[in-house]
Amino acid sequence: MTTPLVNLQQYEAAAAEVLPRMVYDYYAGGANDEILLRASRTAWDDIAVRYRVLRDVSARSLGVNIGGHHLDWPVIVAPMAFQQMATADGEVATARATAAMGCGMILSTLSNRTIEDVRAASNGLLWFQLYIYRDREVTRALVQRAEQAGCTGLVLTVDTPILGRRERDLLNGFHVPSQFEAPNLGVDMRSTLASQQDTASALATFIAHHWDSGIAWRDLEWLQSITTLPIYVKGVVRDDDALLALEHGAAGVIVSNHGGRQLDTALPTARALPAIARTMNGRGLLLVDGGIRRGTDVLKALAMGANAVLLGRPVLWGLATGGEQGARTVLQLLRNEIDLAFALAGVRTPAEATADLLA
Ligand code: GLV
Repeated sequence: MTTPLVNLQQYEAAAAEVLPRMVYDYYAGGANDEILLRASRTAWDDIAVRYRVLRDVSARSLGVNIGGHHLDWPVIVAPMAFQQMATADGEVATARATAAMGCGMILSTLSNRTIEDVRAASNGLLWFQLYIYRDREVTRALVQRAEQAGCTGLVLTVDTPILGRRERDLLNGFHVPSQFEAPNLGVDMRSTLASQQDTASALATFIAHHWDSGIAWRDLEWLQSITTLPIYVKGVVRDDDALLALEHGAAGVIVSNHGGRQLDTALPTARALPAIARTMNGRGLLLVDGGIRRGTDVLKALAMGANAVLLGRPVLWGLATGGEQGARTVLQLLRNEIDLAFALAGVRTPAEATADLLA
């Protein structure tokens, strides 16, 4: 009998056993000394729950409404690149898993499967994540494709004017194996993505060539001018930036530091979220990611004012260990943990997860 994996961390250890080192390190790694990568986790651990008692928690519901969609529980799978490196069906497997589990998904621009294939695999919440290209027409075409495919939101990543320095990738000569496509990039990737350059990873070189490090708040307005979809700004850790996002027309903000992969020693999201929630004060959707591995982390994020959370790497560990079914199992584990955390904290619905629960 094989021993069951009982938590998300164990899925990471199991994935490390089966994935090629270069792939595992690319998914798992963070920038520079990975101080933020570690702090992103411990920042949630450092918050204590002032649980309530005798609240009759016999009936509980985790459902939320996010951007006009009902989610059975408050989790959306974060945009993550190149998922065929984890499992043959790649992002299509993730889409099927999220649809089956009643949660949402954000598809990365850097995906191996097309927007259209991923949309066809899920009838649930599906948003498209994008960067702004130097060539604005490439961005415009991608936005139109996402709209036509039936995505219902755009996620603009704003923490990556340039790719962070991931030393694991440099040491491993990270590149995207040539059997994989990147059909949503809008430009040919083969020239740069498939081989390491001297001083930067293949991905960093690609990004430096194609994405615009000159983007600024005015470009958010431009993006709005070319789409009717709501835009969620991802990668914010300051309340003044959250406010600027709303002022420039964003429908919401995703508190994120790119999973610790961009600016090392940046503010962990668990510490950034409360001030942003206070400043936004219910205006626009508020989501958070970074180091969420336990149901109690989700309870804390909701109590701080988030409407839902994004779950990243653990889904890749599920894909790597068991494909679509593995991703489903990971999601189910987290869902069960959230439900248990609610019950033990005296919380019956996401609306009852309020700031007084935290110490
Ligand atoms: C891409 O966005 C990455 O973090 O590698």
